[in-house]
Amino acid sequence: HQLLREELPGAQVMIVSNREPYIHNLVEGKATLQIPASGLVAALEPVMRACGGVWIAHGSGSADRETVDSRDRIAVPPAQPDYTLRRVWLSDEEQDGYYYGFSNEGLWPLCHIAFVRPSFREADWGEYFAVNAKFAEIVVEEATCDDPVVLVQDYHFALLPRMIRNRLPKATIITFWHIPWPNSETFGICPWRNEIIEGLLGSTILGFHTQFHCNNFIDAADRFLESRIDRESGSITLGGRETLIRPYPISIEWPPSPLATQPPIDECRRRVRERLGLSSDARIGVGIERFDYTKGILDRMRAVDSLLSLHPGWRERFAFIQAAAPTRSKLSTYSSLQNEAARLADEINKRHGVRDWKPIHLVVRHHEQDEVYELFRAADICVVSSLHDGMNLVAKEFVAARDDELGVLILSSFAGASRELSEALIVNPYDTTSMATAIDRALHMSESEQRERMRLMRELVRQHNVYGWAAQMLIHAARLRKRERIMTED
Ligand code: G6P
Repeated sequence: HQLLREELPGAQVMIVSNREPYIHNLVEGKATLQIPASGLVAALEPVMRACGGVWIAHGSGSADRETVDSRDRIAVPPAQPDYTLRRVWLSDEEQDGYYYGFSNEGLWPLCHIAFVRPSFREADWGEYFAVNAKFAEIVVEEATCDDPVVLVQDYHFALLPRMIRNRLPKATIITFWHIPWPNSETFGICPWRNEIIEGLLGSTILGFHTQFHCNNFIDAADRFLESRIDRESGSITLGGRETLIRPYPISIEWPPSPLATQPPIDECRRRVRERLGLSSDARIGVGIERFDYTKGILDRMRAVDSLLSLHPGWRERFAFIQAAAPTRSKLSTYSSLQNEAARLADEINKRHGVRDWKPIHLVVRHHEQDEVYELFRAADICVVSSLHDGMNLVAKEFVAARDDELGVLILSSFAGASRELSEALIVNPYDTTSMATAIDRALHMSESEQRERMRLMRELVRQHNVYGWAAQMLIHAARLRKRERIMTED
């Protein structure tokens, strides 16, 4: 907040994202508040709480729009408001084409390279274009000046930066792409690749999690557009306007707010074991995420299977809890993953189960933040086995939850987080046996080694928290704004 006042005096801050930070769903006739499982929301909500402004997002809850909590414009967080949430309503057609279709059947598999064939349909593209234009309209409507600072979020809004630029030429537009950007051969599959790159180049700054993804984007612009590229400074100039392409590894708030209400570690350990009917000395591994094929959930279960075959001594002593929140279930790739996971869990449980003990506990539902933290705190190990991931904030949340400095993180080398959390046990999720070996090693790791690793990781997340992430982008934007002003005064 202070930084904003100093660096960007008087600036209005707006965020645009598809997912809203507060969803009001109708539960037993009452509007009930839910915080969605989304890395993007987890990262940006604390930033907005700190700096205030307007967050424009798709209104996705099932609660009646007339009820107080689900109006178009509400002050949030509901208990103690710091900023405004402006909801944009989408028709089923818009939602099918823009969200399920182009964003999640096209761009999501395209960028994650998770061996799910991307589907691109003309009609989806039409809705994607129209919804981006609709949000541009709302940004203009919500702007109280001609030069707001607009933070555009993610792959749902590749066209929005250029659309805002056309309407508000003086705006400072910072766009952040939360998922990977693939190499140019892969990206070139998209029939609207040029429009997407041009759209993103309406931004003042375009951020990715890693330098590698920045390079991939620069390569794609180089290959598909007539633009001027300066690789050294990481800038692309198109139609006389420059965009800076920069890495900003996203993070979480520190200290994490859900920790404030957590009971001591021993109590978390006791509660979770009791709930699952496990003995008090049972060892526990956890995996927690949206039920998404990019997360490597099946691969992780196969690793548990392999662990119990290679080291049967863990039978009846180790259990793996997979908490998975249903997501995008309307798409067949997602619903079939849920079925396949349930089938695989059953098969593994039959193979290794003994009396009423079973190795895999698959819990398919949304988990509230305090439940997630309780699981993290109760666990001996946490497995993040993404097949490809921009960053992965679950890895950072696990580390943040462990104020006892114990617990082992097993982390995929294909998640952006592995570049920062190098003290985790880094694994290749496609290699089941080596993942099984890593789980065995984690379960045998001495407390002193756990502590050494955990301390270093906690220090990194503490220093590079989400406020630093946002501040970096805002400081860069402020600098560019000042430079532009001086140039136009000249
Ligand atoms: C990823 C995306 C976010 C998205 C989140 C949850 O983290 O980068 O943009 O919000 O997944 O997915 P959903 O489709 O439920 O918003």
